Amino acid sequence: MTKLGTPAAPLLGAELERELERLLAVPAFEPSPEFRSQALISDASVYGEAERDYEGWWGRQAAELLDWMAPWHTALDQSDAPSYRWFVGGRLNASYNCLDRHVLAGHGDRVAYHWHGQAGEERAVTYGELLGEVQGLAAALRARGIGPGDVVGIYMPMVPEVAVAMLACARIGAPHNLVFLGSSPQTLHQQLSFSEAVALITVDGAIQREGTFRAVKQEIDPVLAELPSLHTVIVRPHRPAPAPMRTDRDLWWKDAVAAGGGECPPEPLDAEHPLYLLYTSGSTGKPKVVVHSTGGYLTGVHWTSKYVFDLKPQSDVFWCTADAGWVTGHSYSVYGPLMNGVSSLMYEGAPDQPHRGIWWELVERYRVSILYAAPTTIRSFMSWGAELPAAYDLSSLRLLGTVGEPINPKAWLWYRTVIGGGRCPIVDTWWQTETGAILVAPLPGVSATKPGAAGRPLPGILPEVFDDDGDPVLEEQGALVLRRPWPSMLRTLYKEDDRYRQTYFGRFDDRSYFGRFSEPAYYVGDVARVDADGHFWIEGRVDDVITVGSERLPSARVESAVVAHPKVAEAGVIGLPDRQWGQVVCAFVTLIGDTRGSTRLEQEIRDVVRERLGEAAVPRRIVWAVDLAKTRSGKIMRRLLRNMAYGLDPGDVTTLRDPRVIDDLERSFAAGADSVS
Ligand code: PRX
Repeated sequence: MTKLGTPAAPLLGAELERELERLLAVPAFEPSPEFRSQALISDASVYGEAERDYEGWWGRQAAELLDWMAPWHTALDQSDAPSYRWFVGGRLNASYNCLDRHVLAGHGDRVAYHWHGQAGEERAVTYGELLGEVQGLAAALRARGIGPGDVVGIYMPMVPEVAVAMLACARIGAPHNLVFLGSSPQTLHQQLSFSEAVALITVDGAIQREGTFRAVKQEIDPVLAELPSLHTVIVRPHRPAPAPMRTDRDLWWKDAVAAGGGECPPEPLDAEHPLYLLYTSGSTGKPKVVVHSTGGYLTGVHWTSKYVFDLKPQSDVFWCTADAGWVTGHSYSVYGPLMNGVSSLMYEGAPDQPHRGIWWELVERYRVSILYAAPTTIRSFMSWGAELPAAYDLSSLRLLGTVGEPINPKAWLWYRTVIGGGRCPIVDTWWQTETGAILVAPLPGVSATKPGAAGRPLPGILPEVFDDDGDPVLEEQGALVLRRPWPSMLRTLYKEDDRYRQTYFGRFDDRSYFGRFSEPAYYVGDVARVDADGHFWIEGRVDDVITVGSERLPSARVESAVVAHPKVAEAGVIGLPDRQWGQVVCAFVTLIGDTRGSTRLEQEIRDVVRERLGEAAVPRRIVWAVDLAKTRSGKIMRRLLRNMAYGLDPGDVTTLRDPRVIDDLERSFAAGADSVS
């Protein structure tokens, strides 16, 4: 493979290890002069502007970035807080902002998606073609009597038609409710029944990310029959499979489009009109159904896509690797890049399908310039070795992003060195399904970045860390809160407005809270620390903190230390009850390649943790696992590990990727029960 344009030969083996060790001592990385000179934002004045008047500043961003069909008169209405309203009185349409305006500006021929299938198929879809498809499907939905406020389910693989389906719903004001294709038919039923969906858009068959084939329509048919509100099912042929069609309810995509007539002007929708409903990943409790708005959501997503990823629509190829079924896919595989008019890559398969070098093959083939991925995937790549990416030309990359969980410094440095060739800034982006868009992240042409820290809040955002009494603390671990509303925030939890108020705004009681600050603060549910430079270090979910004696240890921090052992692939850490200490650490560990667990390895892992975090963090129990219990979006479900260790029912496992791991874990846990103290 040629290395044209690659500045230096890739580092491998011991040389790479030495370089990573050296870099671990570097506290922060400044943007390079080359990056800064071409960045959309290269000086820090934007922070001050937003700070002086955040409502006015957001108003200017909304006016500048979006096309409005009717202007809004008030940027933010807080009269019924915490039910906020942004851009009051304004009207707009999401699909118009993603498609029509680019086509009208003469960019109809620009590629919106380069699609790459698991079997190596390729397709390019332009903005003009996408608009045609969206109009066709939107008209089809309208012809079935579907209109503003009617919920439409989407259960599709990663194909451009998933974006078509989302935007067709947005065009007519029907909130979409995506269900990740890897979810079981029961989960699909549960979600569509709760949202009272009137229609579903799906496919006949699909190869799942893991490479297995599914006759999707046939498999879900029995549960669809149990949804009384569902009157329309539109089926897109994708991978041939028998698809039983019920004549009063089911239509093939092309027949539905033909019946719709093809034309469908965008509906002018209120800025607060719900754009979509989405389940949170549910790594800690009963899933919540988040409701996002149109005007505020699009403003936050457009701004962050443009400036956090420094998007240049004329030249960039953006690859957000998240499935459209998750919020990262909604905001950064669909709405964000399309609003910006940039070309994206969409890949149907998993990172190891059909082989472990596929991502790098795709970066080389499509000249991907910006890559956005989850730390869990980066750790997998690390364990597969630097030789794989070294075989490809990655010189087109100029910016790398991460999202979803804390990234341990070693993985951050590996990403920067091995994938980014040492020249690409890394944007570690902190946000949630609820926040709609990135809230804490570097601006790559401005900010210094520290390995493992999400960095400073974006302009207009005011996070703080509170102690148990609700007092702000610096350089101390505490609860993360957001002290100001922001446009892309969730508006409520679907059908559970009280739960919305309670979960996010009821943590510190009204007297101490609303009394002290002019605006109610949003309780994030994460543990964090802010350092003297104002950088935020996110430590994980509050529920995942282990208290050993008087030390509070976020699971993710202990996991980072366990993973620092070169033989460890991944670790999930929980607290076990202990008479002396209250709790002690128990680590579930998967090992690299065919390494086997041993007493010696246990001792080495303990030494590594002791050296990095001290005695309290040392795992008293180490359980060798084949796989960890992960959600479909790649998060470790520590709640499940905890419940199992405590002998409780596993609880809600609908978001678990592979329910079979529960049995394996139970066996491994029971097997080692009396072996280690
Ligand atoms: O704990 C934080 C973690 O993921 C949670 C949100 O999960 P979800 O709603 O599934 O959205 C994931 C994609 C936005 C947060 O509360 N998290 C997300 N990003 C980061 C993170 N933790 C540390 N660093 C991040 N960059």
